Amino acid sequence: MNVRLVPWSEPALDLLRRTNTPEMRRWVGGPESEEELLARHRRYLAMTEAGDGRVFAVLLDDEMVGSINYHRHDWRGEQIYETGWSVLPPYQGRGVAAAAGAALVDVVREAARRPGAPRMLHAFPSARNAPSNALCRRLGFTLLGPCDFEYPRGSGTLMRSNDWVLDLTGPARR
Ligand SMILES: CC(C)(COP(=O)(O)OP(=O)(O)OC[C@H]1O[C@@H](n2cnc3c(N)ncnc32)[C@H](O)[C@@H]1OP(=O)(O)O)[C@@H](O)C(=O)NCCC(=O)NCCS
Repeated sequence: MNVRLVPWSEPALDLLRRTNTPEMRRWVGGPESEEELLARHRRYLAMTEAGDGRVFAVLLDDEMVGSINYHRHDWRGEQIYETGWSVLPPYQGRGVAAAAGAALVDVVREAARRPGAPRMLHAFPSARNAPSNALCRRLGFTLLGPCDFEYPRGSGTLMRSNDWVLDLTGPARR
């Protein structure tokens, strides 16, 4: 399977629109308005600093089928990297997210080598999001336990999540 990550770009707006469904956004606050969607797209385009975070479109062969990202986050008084992902329904269940996640972990491992960069990569899927929790396990994350996680950031809305962590300084899984 040929899965690649490419930096977020103008054409990826169409991917964002196709991701903006009740099904796809079930665990992350539901569909967004056109205004929110465009603001998200602009935020993604602006994230170009490797050490702070990036958003990637996931390509299966040459088709955009999902997205994956990492960014810095302040968590319980510590700077961490956080990741999140999505794969469009027709392409789910075939290992696309597993391949994209492994590629993302490689990218974040590189970022974590910079002086002062976070050393831990966390994911905070809803405790009820079975595929996303399975993906964390598959990628070698360790489950720290349940937590209340604010999503969207700054909204004051708390989501019952699982806190998964991967030590970026540890040996890479192959
Ligand atoms: C989470 C998501 C990205 C997984 O994408 P995917 O390409 O289907 O995942 P993969 O095929 O690579 O499978 C990854 C793991 O999830 C498991 N999985 C996939 N679908 C599953 C399901 N419906 N129920 C339980 N586990 C599932 C797979 O078995 C695999 O685990 P394994 O290696 O232990 O067998 C996809 O379901 C998605 O986009 N969901 C909607 C958006 C979302 O919730 N994003 C996460 C926000 S934190």
